Amino acid sequence: MRLKLGETAPNFQAETNEGNIDFYEYLGDGWGVLFSHPADYTPVCTTELGRMSQLQDEFTKRNAKILAVSVDSAESHRGWIKDINETQNTHVGYPIIADTDRKVADLYGMIHPKALDTKTVRSVFIIGPDKKVKLTLTYPASTGRNFLEILRVLDSLQLTSDYSVSTPADWKEGEDVIIGGNIKTEDIPEKFPKGHKIIKPYLRTTPQPNK
Ligand code: BEZ
Repeated sequence: MRLKLGETAPNFQAETNEGNIDFYEYLGDGWGVLFSHPADYTPVCTTELGRMSQLQDEFTKRNAKILAVSVDSAESHRGWIKDINETQNTHVGYPIIADTDRKVADLYGMIHPKALDTKTVRSVFIIGPDKKVKLTLTYPASTGRNFLEILRVLDSLQLTSDYSVSTPADWKEGEDVIIGGNIKTEDIPEKFPKGHKIIKPYLRTTPQPNK
């Protein structure tokens, strides 16, 4: 199964290194980042889970809960977390699903047999408070992800769900944004009082409205 943007992220119950969870209960009314890695005690994964841990406060500030997945056991996760904490100078504070029966991996299409036989690849799903899938991303085993990019997308998703704007290439929090095509030019000053630029009739920008 391949989940598409806008579809409902399916709920599940799973064992983690911190005990059993119900995904929807874990997310509550906030945002979620569900991400898989191929295997415990592997080098790229060790740096990735460490990086996510270092950024956990940033996700919490954005009302987003983190949940990792691999097909290794909860006991394996608990042992490996000690290595992650030691080598990445962090303290992993989010649960890792022990998806030994591949239930979550199959539900979210995290196994790509032609790339990595029976292990989970590096998938990321951002899930909104409405439980819809807002982002999907898949990286190969050989390439560690950029977790700042996931935070950047979360910033964009949260901004664009509150305002009629979109964010340009390489946009970062605090930079100008693009005014939605549904806003008539004559209505811009009222809706975006910080000012605007009309570069082309279809490309109109304004300072980030919530800053
Ligand atoms: C790694 O994390 O380094 C890794 C895991 C599985 C396959 C290849 C690399």
